[in-house]
Amino acid sequence: MKVNGKNFKTIWFENDKVKIIDQTKLPHHFVIKDLFSVKDSIKAIKTMEVRGAPLIGATAAYGLVLAIIENNDLSFLKKASDDLIASRPTAINLKWAVDRMMKKLIGVNNQDILKIALKEAKDIVDEDIEFCKKIGLNGLKIIEEIAEKKEDTVNILTHCNAGWLATIDWGTATSPIYHAHQKGIKLHVWVDETRPRNQGANLTSYELNEEGISNTVITDNAGGILMQRGQVDMCIVGTDRTLSNGDVCNKVGTYLKALAAKDNNVPFYVALPSSTIDWNINDHKKIPIEERNSEELSHVEGIDENNEIKKVRIYPQKSKSLNLAFDITPAKLVSGLITEKGVCEASKKGLKELFK
Ligand code: MRU
Repeated sequence: MKVNGKNFKTIWFENDKVKIIDQTKLPHHFVIKDLFSVKDSIKAIKTMEVRGAPLIGATAAYGLVLAIIENNDLSFLKKASDDLIASRPTAINLKWAVDRMMKKLIGVNNQDILKIALKEAKDIVDEDIEFCKKIGLNGLKIIEEIAEKKEDTVNILTHCNAGWLATIDWGTATSPIYHAHQKGIKLHVWVDETRPRNQGANLTSYELNEEGISNTVITDNAGGILMQRGQVDMCIVGTDRTLSNGDVCNKVGTYLKALAAKDNNVPFYVALPSSTIDWNINDHKKIPIEERNSEELSHVEGIDENNEIKKVRIYPQKSKSLNLAFDITPAKLVSGLITEKGVCEASKKGLKELFK
């Protein structure tokens, strides 16, 4: 999608380096950063220079490519894959991408391994772009139906950033929005700020602005009253891990939006590529919920008058804090799952029918 009118992807490989957009600097500075080693890749994932389930999967895949360039040795590669998987625990795409890479790489001879790793990482990236595009076309039909009935601007609420910056291109939750916009449907997006890291305000609003899509940042708690006032026609969010029974794990606060949507008869959709489905877990209590540094809560970052990013404390040093990064939205609150294969009910039956 576009930055200053120019098309970008979030990650690419060039001259033995991996290029990423450093998302910790957005929306104030657009910085392209080089990753030279698997250590750099792990750091980029941990510090959220790259974030979003599909993008951290792709970064891990390219992290293994960098590991092979650094040291073409199986035990080094195995250690790199374990360290990459451990770098963020909740999004299943990370493990999915590393497992897919390792399956291709184990047993391959040393001369061929780099070529095979590069091809597999590129396949993961290309496939994600294709899947996100299809998610957009499938979700577009839902927006079109609402637009036909309403004959006025369609108001969509989204949480966190499940946009192109969280994937490679298009995004998941934003892909139907981009497709609808390109078709000329009048849209407006309510963007949840998404404390503590403000991915909504910093990233979703930024990328919608760059594409010329009308949007308004709201506090995380404002969605309920907007729904009561009839100002939200549908919600679309992304997910970090969707279980085979349709339960959805996504950025903390998603569950509360789904509850409010249910109470107000607002359709609540979750958009995801199949790489985000965890077929092995049936019980959401088994999902490791990432607990991040409390400094993300106690401090806020912004830009000062000299264009420099500054961090300030916002509450007493003595106060304790708990920074849970994700929550679970039970399948019964989800109107449908928008996938690359079509839209299905959020249930074992619905998912099985699409992904036989
Ligand atoms: O902590 P983040 O910024 O990585 O969380 C991102 C989300 O929660 C997204 O909604 C999710 O990864 C889906 S991205 C298409």
